[in-house]
Amino acid sequence: MQQHLIQCIFLASCLKLCTGSEWCYESQHNCGSPCNVPEKWGHANENCFGNAQSPINIVHRKTLPDERLTPFQFKYYQHSIEALIKNNGHSVQVNLNKDAYVNGGHLEMPYKALQFHLHWGRNGGPGSEHTVDGEQYPMELHIVHIKEKYSNLEDALKDSTGVAVLGFFYEESISPNRKYEPIIKAIRNITAPGTNTPLVDLSLEQLILPPENMTNYYRYLGSLTTPGCTEAVIWTVFEKPIYLSKEQLQEFSKLRFKDDKPMMANFRPVQPLNNRKVYRSGGAVVVASAILLVASIAMVTGLSQPD
Ligand SMILES: *[C@@H]1O[C@H](CO)[C@@H](O)[C@H](O)[C@H]1NC(C)=O
Ligand SMILES: *[C@@H]1O[C@H](CO)[C@@H](O)[C@H](O)[C@H]1NC(C)=O
Ligand SMILES: [Zn+2]
Repeated sequence: MQQHLIQCIFLASCLKLCTGSEWCYESQHNCGSPCNVPEKWGHANENCFGNAQSPINIVHRKTLPDERLTPFQFKYYQHSIEALIKNNGHSVQVNLNKDAYVNGGHLEMPYKALQFHLHWGRNGGPGSEHTVDGEQYPMELHIVHIKEKYSNLEDALKDSTGVAVLGFFYEESISPNRKYEPIIKAIRNITAPGTNTPLVDLSLEQLILPPENMTNYYRYLGSLTTPGCTEAVIWTVFEKPIYLSKEQLQEFSKLRFKDDKPMMANFRPVQPLNNRKVYRSGGAVVVASAILLVASIAMVTGLSQPD
């Protein structure tokens, strides 16, 4: 026992000194496998110690309404995804090879969908990367988009607004979400790290929310949430969650990390906001209801005026 403790201390001090070891999540940390846990990512990649990092905790009360944050247009999101879903050792990822892109949402230009992946907790427990008023959801979907003129992520990351990630939360529901069955079935085939399987009968549209549930979202400027942590991301985090049953959420915890441990809690902890602002859509609605309120007050006072 004591010998184990001494070994641990030895390895812990080695972890601090040794550079060049691979990055990992806190949940993968153990004395036997020296890897860089999130608070040490900055040692291997200085960006991770930057001032505009992601994810963040979104404090709704402090978000600023912005009427320019209009709804998105999702183009070719309904096309079937003909791609492989891969266990890349820290998440499941699908590299998209089709024509899907987004417009609107106060993005300067169209951004094309490059890949999507997820972050989750332990057996359906807390696991999202962003939190809202301190609440951590069981899972979070990231659909990574880049400006259309770039052909790969590396080039897009050289532009401070080269990447636009759409983030969706998940919430537990009683009944399973049938639209997610193709992806749930596929991940049962790729529990081992480094494996992949074809995705069938799935479109991006099936993964996200109906348009009426995507009008409310948060917007801020941040970074990738894995090393290199590059600060080149326009973040959009949708308020309304996608519903999956507990059993569906738990399927993700059957995957295994690169080190063969159960792939659970593969999220980065929230980062300081520093001097950034978080905006929210729906400014126009707020203004409209304020006008309505003023009008109704005027009417009431008008009516109570003696003539
Ligand atoms: C799972 O893998 C098997 C064997 O490789 C394959 O026949 C099957 O279609 C795969 N199922 C899914 C849902 O990917
Ligand atoms: C859309 O939002 C409504 C109201 O919050 C909710 O009842 C409904 O289940 C949502 N639809 C989907 C597909 O998530
Ligand atoms: Zn992510």
